[in-house]
Amino acid sequence: MNENPMVPDLDLPEAPAERSLSGVASMGHAVVPGEIDTSHGTILYLEDVTVSFDGFRALNTLTLAIDAGELRCIIGPNGAGKTTMMDVITGKTAPDDGKVFLGQSIDLTRMNEPAIARAGIGRKFQKPTVFEQHPVWENLELAMKADKGWWASLRARLDRDAQARIEETLALIGLESEALRLAGELSHGQKQRLEIGMLLMQQPALLLLDEPAAGMTDDETMQLADLLNRLRGTCSMMVVEHDMEFVAALAGTTGKVTVMAEGRVLAHGTLDEVKRDETVIESYLGR
Ligand SMILES: Nc1ncnc2c1ncn2[C@@H]1O[C@H](COP(=O)(O)OP(=O)(O)O)[C@@H](O)[C@H]1O
Ligand SMILES: [Mg+2]
Repeated sequence: MNENPMVPDLDLPEAPAERSLSGVASMGHAVVPGEIDTSHGTILYLEDVTVSFDGFRALNTLTLAIDAGELRCIIGPNGAGKTTMMDVITGKTAPDDGKVFLGQSIDLTRMNEPAIARAGIGRKFQKPTVFEQHPVWENLELAMKADKGWWASLRARLDRDAQARIEETLALIGLESEALRLAGELSHGQKQRLEIGMLLMQQPALLLLDEPAAGMTDDETMQLADLLNRLRGTCSMMVVEHDMEFVAALAGTTGKVTVMAEGRVLAHGTLDEVKRDETVIESYLGR
């Protein structure tokens, strides 16, 4: 019954009936991407979202939509509300007001953080959070099992597709030759790519990245841009970033860039368009 020589044979109990039929072995999340209704072309929709901290409006009637499959760059000065926006999308912060929808029908304001993650939203925080004491490949394995519960973990161990998915992801994030090293020994840029790989193991429909290039060397920054460009088509992405060369590498000449300031959208368009926008020049780029 056990085809993986690395894994000892376990005397497994019968799978709970509802689980054994529900695609545990495919390691999908509770809501498979197909259940996110993107028939209108939108993966994420925020309308008039407001968040106040002691009367200060960190988000002020923020309205924004991300197309399914899009890689959207968000720029804006410190304090513009970019991280707060991600906190709202992921359920960390409840908005005072406004709509937040994943696809047409999933109301994220009614869900908690784990449910939102299971629905298909992955989030990359600024600091890399990898399991430093574990080898690189094991970080990917653990990420695949995360949140799946006891039974699913056992099943995942036996799944013969798991190894293939880990190898695929290692190649994608350019860490094949580092697979056996401890994650703690990686460079900052490699750790960041590993964490993105860990998020990918969960097969997110939408990936949120908050200043992923911060603290990276120029080379690492361009490797990251290359990785995100290669992820196009795999998932939709929202990338908050200050580094304008990085933004240029992601947006190209046609990609849309959203400029936030004071809790709302200040401008939206191609990078060239927003760079030429008078309000943007005044409030941000031309400081
Ligand atoms: N938990 C919080 N409590 C009070 N104020 C906050 C909190 N989180 C963010 N803010 C404030 O909200 C504003 C927006 O912050 P943030 O979303 O982190 O901006 P950005 O990510 O664009 O730099 C800032 O003025 C910040 O000080
Ligand atoms: Mg921030």
